[in-house]
Amino acid sequence: MSTMVPRPNSDHPTHCTSEQYSDLYRQSVDNPDAFWLGQAERLDWYKKPTKGGEWSFDPAQIAWFSDGSLNLCHNAVDRHLAERSDDVALIFEPDDPDSPTRTLTYGDLHQEVTGMANALKAMGVTKGERVTLYMPMIVEGVLAMLACARIGAIHSVVFGGFSPEALAGRLKDCGSRFVITADGGLRGGKAVPLKANVDAALTHDGVDVSAVLVVKHTAMDVTMSEGRDHWYHDLASDADCPCEPMNAEDPLFILYTSGSTGTPKGVLHTTGGYGVWTATTFHYTFDYQPGEIYWCTADIGWVTGHSYIVYGPLMNGATSVIFEGVPNYPDHGRFWDVIDKHQVNILYTAPTAIRALMREGDEFVTSRDRSSLRLLGSVGEPINPEAWRWYFDVVGEQRCPIIDTWWQTETGGVMITTLPGAHDMQPGSAGLPFFGITPQLVDGEGAVLDGAVEGNLCLTGSWPGQARSVYGDHDRFIQTYFSTYKGKYFTGDGCKRDEDGYYRITGRVDDVINVSGHRMGTAEVESALVLHSLVAEAAVVGYPHDIKGQGIYCYVTLNAGEEGSDELYAELRQHIRKEIGPIATPDHLQFTDGLPKTRSGKIMRRILRKIAENDFGSLGDTSTLADPSLVDRLIEHRQNK
Ligand code: PRX
Repeated sequence: MSTMVPRPNSDHPTHCTSEQYSDLYRQSVDNPDAFWLGQAERLDWYKKPTKGGEWSFDPAQIAWFSDGSLNLCHNAVDRHLAERSDDVALIFEPDDPDSPTRTLTYGDLHQEVTGMANALKAMGVTKGERVTLYMPMIVEGVLAMLACARIGAIHSVVFGGFSPEALAGRLKDCGSRFVITADGGLRGGKAVPLKANVDAALTHDGVDVSAVLVVKHTAMDVTMSEGRDHWYHDLASDADCPCEPMNAEDPLFILYTSGSTGTPKGVLHTTGGYGVWTATTFHYTFDYQPGEIYWCTADIGWVTGHSYIVYGPLMNGATSVIFEGVPNYPDHGRFWDVIDKHQVNILYTAPTAIRALMREGDEFVTSRDRSSLRLLGSVGEPINPEAWRWYFDVVGEQRCPIIDTWWQTETGGVMITTLPGAHDMQPGSAGLPFFGITPQLVDGEGAVLDGAVEGNLCLTGSWPGQARSVYGDHDRFIQTYFSTYKGKYFTGDGCKRDEDGYYRITGRVDDVINVSGHRMGTAEVESALVLHSLVAEAAVVGYPHDIKGQGIYCYVTLNAGEEGSDELYAELRQHIRKEIGPIATPDHLQFTDGLPKTRSGKIMRRILRKIAENDFGSLGDTSTLADPSLVDRLIEHRQNK
């Protein structure tokens, strides 16, 4: 039974009707090179590319537009100066609603980015250097990314909520010698000691940072290390700083993301393909028109912030809101206050925020004027139909189409979504493939599944925004994405296709969990747990959580003779916050005298998942376990929780 919701009638001009979608999609898959060389015309090139895609998935080697050269800071900033220098590029909304907002035109943005780029040069940053950003959600975070792009440095943004330990790991992995941070950040009225965290990270063995640039943002006291640390306001200068011409395949950024094994991977994106992908997807997915106010609530520490706060909107000359705060401060009406205050037309947010706000009741929403809203977007995790309906009915008053955009850090930008002027919607279903995208569903053995069916989601061909490698470890890139199903990119997601050809993502099918839209490797949390001196062994699984989508469930075995206690429970939670950051805080921790293992010693994670889910009826065959009675003890504990 189809649950199609017709797209609301609207007089908003669309970039793509349903007929145009079908036509363009066909062109994009029949003749991808011609199609993408055409889309590349959206950008300014120093040398226009004549080559489209040059790629193989076996072994994986990917390039697009390889004979072209361009600069993405030029495309996001300088190219707009001639025609829209006085148009607003960025609106900054601070954590505290009573603090002043800040508005930058494209002209202002040019001046500020130049200042930041000069500061980087003064620190000794040159083309190809990795520069790590550890920033709050302020204008200078965007400036720092663009300034790196301007001079050809590779940015690696680390989310400001990660711990010093996590930051140190990422600094080491890419051999970053430069850090840009702020004295502190503000979130929900609380100060986050960013500079102090950087200081702590820099004491780790193997971290080799020669210069730190510090933006003054709060009144926090910081220690400045002579010769190493510099205030941004001391180094910024307005000397001319031209954009560095970059080959299309020169790296633009590294962004660390979690996988099913090992430490986070430095996903590498390059300049031309990523630029074309984010510019094109932004244009079609949001149907942006000049003068509209667009707000993506993500943090620049995640790929959504990279592609749809910074590069996509600015390359399209859009006005983009940057929000420092959180949805529930000072109260649960903050999102709707911001929308009214800045007359936001397009909102792009995550299901976890929608669910958290839905729980607080309609009054926070309906008491605010949302008449400026035109389009609502969702990203980062599956949106349950109930939350979808609330977003559509209450927030958007059934006037605003919803786009549920499926994509990943590795894909660079949106891959599956309905388009607002072209398609009807289905609650909980991302919809149809974007131009050039050829999804394929396969079973566990790799057999291709046709028709309306559920399977593992693969992509059979490359697209310009695809990640090119894992920084410093191309074998890991091949192993992670191209070895499960030979010759295909495996997304790690499960997916259902229906009779209408719509794709509904069901969630990860590997050992990655999605907590409040944040991707986390269960192996990472396990490694952090076993670092604690009393922990012998740990297994971590995800389980359904009303607000977060998935919660973190840890099974912990202690060293012989040790007993679990409330104190140790609290200490282990604290320990993980220190090792990774607050986003990895376990929702439940279960002390157990053992983990269910096969006789050959393999942990049966499937059983642990079912127990965490309170689904004891379908544990499957437990007779092959070394100690089958352990399962009964685990279930008993779970039931008594
Ligand atoms: O499981 C999918 C889920 O988020 C994963 C990618 O996470 P990350 O690389 O952090 O990027 C998040 C922002 C693009 C995917 O493998 N995911 C993302 N968007 C959706 C989604 N699941 C369902 N529906 C979506 N719209």
